[in-house]
Amino acid sequence: MTLQPLLRHPSLRPTDEWWKAAVVYQVYPRSFADSNGDGIGDIRGIINRLDHLENLGIDVVWLSPVYTSPQDDNGYDISDYYAVDPTFGTLEDLDELIAAMHARGMKLVMDLVVNHTSDEHAWFQESRASRTSAKRDWYIWRDPRTSQEHEAGNEPNNWGSFFSGSAWELDEGTGQYFLHLFSRKQPDLNWDNPEVRAAIYKMMNWWLDRGIDGFRMDVISFISKHPGLPDGPVENGTTWGNGIPFYGSGPHVHEYLQEMHREVFRGRETELMTVGEMVDATPELARLYTDPDRKELDMVFHFEHVGLDHGPGGKFTRKALDLVEVKRSFARWQEALADVGWNSLYWNNHDQPRVVSRFGNDTGYWYESATALATVLHLMRGTPYIYQGEELGMTNMPFEGIEDFRDLESLNYYYEALTGNDGSEAAAELLAGIATGGRDNARTPVQWDATPNAGFTTGDPWIPVNPNHLWLNAAAQRTDPGSVFSWYRSLVRLRHEEPVVIDGRFTLLCPEDPQLFVYTRTSETTSLMVLANCSTTPRALNLQLARELAMRWVSAEVLLHNHPEKSWDRQELRPWEVVVLRRSA
Ligand code: NOJ
Repeated sequence: MTLQPLLRHPSLRPTDEWWKAAVVYQVYPRSFADSNGDGIGDIRGIINRLDHLENLGIDVVWLSPVYTSPQDDNGYDISDYYAVDPTFGTLEDLDELIAAMHARGMKLVMDLVVNHTSDEHAWFQESRASRTSAKRDWYIWRDPRTSQEHEAGNEPNNWGSFFSGSAWELDEGTGQYFLHLFSRKQPDLNWDNPEVRAAIYKMMNWWLDRGIDGFRMDVISFISKHPGLPDGPVENGTTWGNGIPFYGSGPHVHEYLQEMHREVFRGRETELMTVGEMVDATPELARLYTDPDRKELDMVFHFEHVGLDHGPGGKFTRKALDLVEVKRSFARWQEALADVGWNSLYWNNHDQPRVVSRFGNDTGYWYESATALATVLHLMRGTPYIYQGEELGMTNMPFEGIEDFRDLESLNYYYEALTGNDGSEAAAELLAGIATGGRDNARTPVQWDATPNAGFTTGDPWIPVNPNHLWLNAAAQRTDPGSVFSWYRSLVRLRHEEPVVIDGRFTLLCPEDPQLFVYTRTSETTSLMVLANCSTTPRALNLQLARELAMRWVSAEVLLHNHPEKSWDRQELRPWEVVVLRRSA
């Protein structure tokens, strides 16, 4: 298998950090393309759609899990790390995908889910068999607490699971509880056991030897738990405590990642890319995780900006987004990682509602807001990620009832909150919460064309297709220069062709403006200015900015403008208008 060299920018260090010039595209295989009519996307479906990805110009695909799994959490519950789930195809299909991608100059990064396994993994089966099993200590087992020290029961501590209820499940057979930060079918591995770590590194090496190009590491900052597993703070009158202070970036996480680097990546790291998902990351932590001298990870996914519209009850209770807060957050991360470390840039993934519906306006300004939001994100410093369908401006789903949902996080939340509260008003409110904040918004099938089921499958799709596929689809956009798809292509091309996008200094302008998102990127030779009106009302530029544009930027070239048919007077921005300017520094 030969690797085609990716575009490497001359300003980058010659042999490494190619991923600073790359754009990553995430494929959630279940919802991407179904080749065999069973209603579920598969690997051959991806192979059949590689032209779309090549046309978009992306460099890397992050493939969400295709390993063998009972699919409790759509593959994030793995029962065999060395095999492909028959739902998605075979190992041979995956080899073919890797080869086909490499032949087109694209890399493939696999999801690595090793904070937990499935409860159906042989390791867990052996672990739960008896208290003296050789693999007992591969997971986190504790005796029940006898004194009722917290409201809920005699679980070993008060930690809540991300998917509702306690993070502990009693194993009747052995009388002990096991820890599961996610569903009860996702028991947490005990990373303090060196045998566990060795088994994981062996598996990672096996995949790299097979030809993949790196890993996206699922909740990797949770692998090291604080000894003693202390109770967490109970917030907002909830039953369960927040354990993140005791497992988010825990005591050994850096040590384990450095060990992983030595055992898995050493010697071949320049060809690879690693990105760690980190719910708890701060800019300071991200700098530690991604400082190249520390040899941990290339970049992280943090969650700060996607939490800014969460209400007091979390993701299913929303509050209006404050653009000033959004800009402050981005600027803080841009500055903290300006000299050391690297960041990922994303609005969407398989866990987040669709950005054009969430932060944009998917009715009156669908095209304008999809393109404006894409632009402000992609032209910052960091590696941008496009989640499948985002390049088409796919929207949230108009869910009609609870039967339209598939995601266990939304369903658990809904049914738990409904217990003892059977008024239809409460049900309607809960439904509205999961309809706007739920992960299924991201998981409706990719809209390839206007045919029934959007060209995703010839069978019954596992989750309903968004009815707007009749006009919002890839076939309608692919050759239209005024489409969201063409706009994303231009953004990808700009990153490849314009070095200042990769390494220019970031400066936020008008930080207190509630509607405008304006920043510059500057290198020794070139400056870019990105100006976006992130609102549905026109906004005049302040005098200082207007003067700056009339002087230093007067002859700047307009690289991108999402109202190409209308000229721009440099005084005001129309609703969701975005302009990108370039001049020599
Ligand atoms: C984060 C993944 O992105 C999410 O989809 C999954 O449910 C949890 N980790 C558990 O693996």
